[in-house]
This record gives sequence, C-alpha cells and structure tokens, in this order.
Amino acid sequence: MSISITPFPDGIGADVAGVDLANLTPGEVDAIRSAWIAHQVLRFRGQKLNDDALANFSANFGELEGAPIGFKTRTYKTDRPEVTVISNIKIDGEAIGGLGDGEAEWHSDMTYIDMPPDASALYSLEIPASGGDTWFMNMYDAYDALPEAMKAKLQGLTCKHDATRSSDGKLRSGFRETYTREELPGAVHPLVIRHPDSGRKALYLGRRLNAHVMELTPAESDALLDQLWVHVRAHAKTWSQQWRVGDLVMWDNRCTMHRRDSFDPSSRRLMHRTQVRGSTPPAAA
Ligand code: SIN
Repeated sequence: MSISITPFPDGIGADVAGVDLANLTPGEVDAIRSAWIAHQVLRFRGQKLNDDALANFSANFGELEGAPIGFKTRTYKTDRPEVTVISNIKIDGEAIGGLGDGEAEWHSDMTYIDMPPDASALYSLEIPASGGDTWFMNMYDAYDALPEAMKAKLQGLTCKHDATRSSDGKLRSGFRETYTREELPGAVHPLVIRHPDSGRKALYLGRRLNAHVMELTPAESDALLDQLWVHVRAHAKTWSQQWRVGDLVMWDNRCTMHRRDSFDPSSRRLMHRTQVRGSTPPAAA
C-alpha cells in the first residue's frame, strides 16, 4: 500500500487512500498533514477505528479538546474523554450524543470560544440509508470571490460568535433564551483571518445566528452579515460527503464551514468526533 491523494473536482477536499489510520508511519502523517493544509478537508474510506485509534490518529495534529458543552450524556460512554458523540440515537429516552436528526446550519466548530479548534475528525459507525450528508465550504475561496470594495470594508472588523446555541439552533444548557447584544456570551474574532500555515486569507463567519459585528450598529451589522451570507451561499465552493460506515472525514476548521442535512428520525446515525485544540485566529493584515 502506498498513500494516494486525489483532490475532489469541487474546489475543496481530497480522498486519501492506501493508509490504515490505526497504523500510520511518520512519513504518512507528514503527507496527511500537508494534504490537510492544501485541500482543507480529507476523506479516508474503509477505516476500522476504536476510540483509542481515533484519538491517537487525531493527536498527530495537536493536543485534543474535551467534548463541547452539552455533548456529554449519562447513557453512553466513549472509551476516551476526547471522543464526542454525534448521534440521534436515544437510550432510555435520553439522546446519547449531540445534534439529533435535524439539519445543522453552516458553521465552523466552536468559534464561540477564544481559541477554536484547528481540526475536527468525524468517524462514522452507523449511518442512515439516506440523508445526513455533511457539506463543506471553502472559506478561502469565499474571501477571494468578494468584490475588492467589500474586502476593504471588512478590514479591521470583528464579529461576536454566539455561545448559547448549537448548530441545530438549540439552546445549550445553562444559557438564557435572550441576551442583549452586549451581554451575549461568546467570543470575538476578526471577520477575515490569515491562516497561520497556508498564509491565505479566509472569511471567518462562524455561524449566522446571533452573530454581530462589534464595530457597527445592529442594523449595519445585520445588513453586512446578511450580504456576506448571501455571497458565500452563492459563490463559495462546496463538497458534500455521502457517508459510508468506516469513513473518517477530517477538516481544517480555520478555513472551512460545514453543515449537515437532516435525515429520517426513525433511522440511526452514530458518529464519533475528535477536535484538535487551536489558537486565537489571527487577523489578516
Ligand atoms: C458537525 O456539525 O460537527 C456534525 C456534522 C455531521 O453530523 O455530519
């Protein structure tokens, strides 16, 4: 077996074949790291990973995060504290993981904290017959496709990223339904960041719900963010992953957003996820 990397024709993502993620050589780790920076999203098919193997693979790319707020349950335990469960399955009426069976809106992971993860890896254990596809958006491309006047306008602007709701729109436990703009729990990041490894500029939107641009009035902020979201939906390059059991998809959280399609609530979907700790997203000068 030798590693092969085949970019998708969509302008984001690549298939990586010829590797067993439970037994990587240092050379293969280097090749995967380079491909991850170059292609932003990598898919590995046909992997057999227990939680130790998933966590050990992910730790090649940095220190692992614990599970995000609200993703831990009493009814289902992973073998490693760094492994988070994404699932609609319920045991004794309690969901065993996060995000259920509904649509998850476009977002980057955990941008509501000061140092959002650099990487996320999602591994499929059970999948529905249809639905539940995961879509990825190229945020370098989203920035590059902006008109020059808009690029100039975004210079120096920062955005508050809401910590109170998950990407399926649900209120996280411990938070209130409403906050004033000033009170809203979350983190503030530049609207345009420079990726520390690629050196490229990326539009850094996080998610739309409750986002606001700190330097603008509420009306100006909503108008600008709405314009940016119309732009990314129309112009950014996207790729969708149709899951098979044993797929692992790893993405660069600094230069991509992702969303998930809904699926039949009577079917089962079980994914284990890891996240690599990041640093403060640097503003693009
Ligand atoms: C996520 O938004 O992190 C989960 C995506 C998925 O369930 O496919």
